[in-house]
Amino acid sequence: MRPAAFLLRRPAWPNRKIAATTSLPWQNPVAAFTPLTCPHRLDTLPPMETSIHTLREALRHAQRVAVLTGAGVSAESGIPTFRGADGLWKNYQATDLATPEAFAKDPELVWEFYNWRRSLIGQKTCNPAHTALAQMEGVIPELALITQNVDGLHLMAGSRRVLELHGNIWRVRCTRCGREAMDRSPDMGKRPTCTACGGLLRPGVVWFGESLDPRILHQAVEAARRCQIMLVVGTSSVVQPAASLAFTARSGGAMLAEINLERTPNSELMDRVLLGKAGEILPRLVEGLS
Ligand code: OAD
Repeated sequence: MRPAAFLLRRPAWPNRKIAATTSLPWQNPVAAFTPLTCPHRLDTLPPMETSIHTLREALRHAQRVAVLTGAGVSAESGIPTFRGADGLWKNYQATDLATPEAFAKDPELVWEFYNWRRSLIGQKTCNPAHTALAQMEGVIPELALITQNVDGLHLMAGSRRVLELHGNIWRVRCTRCGREAMDRSPDMGKRPTCTACGGLLRPGVVWFGESLDPRILHQAVEAARRCQIMLVVGTSSVVQPAASLAFTARSGGAMLAEINLERTPNSELMDRVLLGKAGEILPRLVEGLS
């Protein structure tokens, strides 16, 4: 049994107020650019321009940055999110399609869902948000891109240090011999089988109740612990353990900024909340960074 911290969990992190960071602003030259107290308590968001400028200046001086992304980053590529107005989990039950129990009960139904997503994602390409993050990696000495997305678009955009917390939709794994392979077929058929042993294949993604790859999770936690700035982009911050990485970064003294269309349960934790489209804000942040 893996410790619970490794399991993909749905319940929202309690929306509790976080005590002040454990390190002081002057111990982190990057965090010192902005006050570590949340400036948004009274919903008086500073103008977008101020936030972009402040964040860009902080990024310019940063050595270690972590970025946590979610489905919102791929929304402008035309890939549906999970919890938005047209989100996948508004129309489908996650428990019917994204759990090991669902696959054991009806693998054909689960493959139907994943074949539909494969064919949709296969027609999409990266958007300015993915491109901006790939460019950011080129100018920040140490940037870890931690993603919950399984679409592979960060890699397509040219990001190299990508930690895919929830796997990759193009990967398949044999349920009998455990062999993994990349397969970009848009349609894998009703019951795809392993070429090595004939066992039933499953999507190489992490389902609810399953363990995250401990090696990837460890790298993500380390990146969050060490970073001076964490950008949290396009995620509803309700799925664990990904959502708690912002807490890890905060307790390491990092400056936190969220880019999202709307506030999330983690907004309270942020030094900056930039409300808007990732594909518009991220390119502006990277502009003039080098
Ligand atoms: P969600 O669908 O829960 O959240 C998407 C977030 O993106 C929301 O907060 C939106 O407001 C925001 N958003 C939408 N369009 C945006 C845009 N153009 N720019 C910026 N933000 C935008 O997706 P995740 O948080 O990624 O797991 O969901 C986490 C996990 O839950 C997924 O990895 C998936 C899901 O169930 C599995 O399937 C195992």
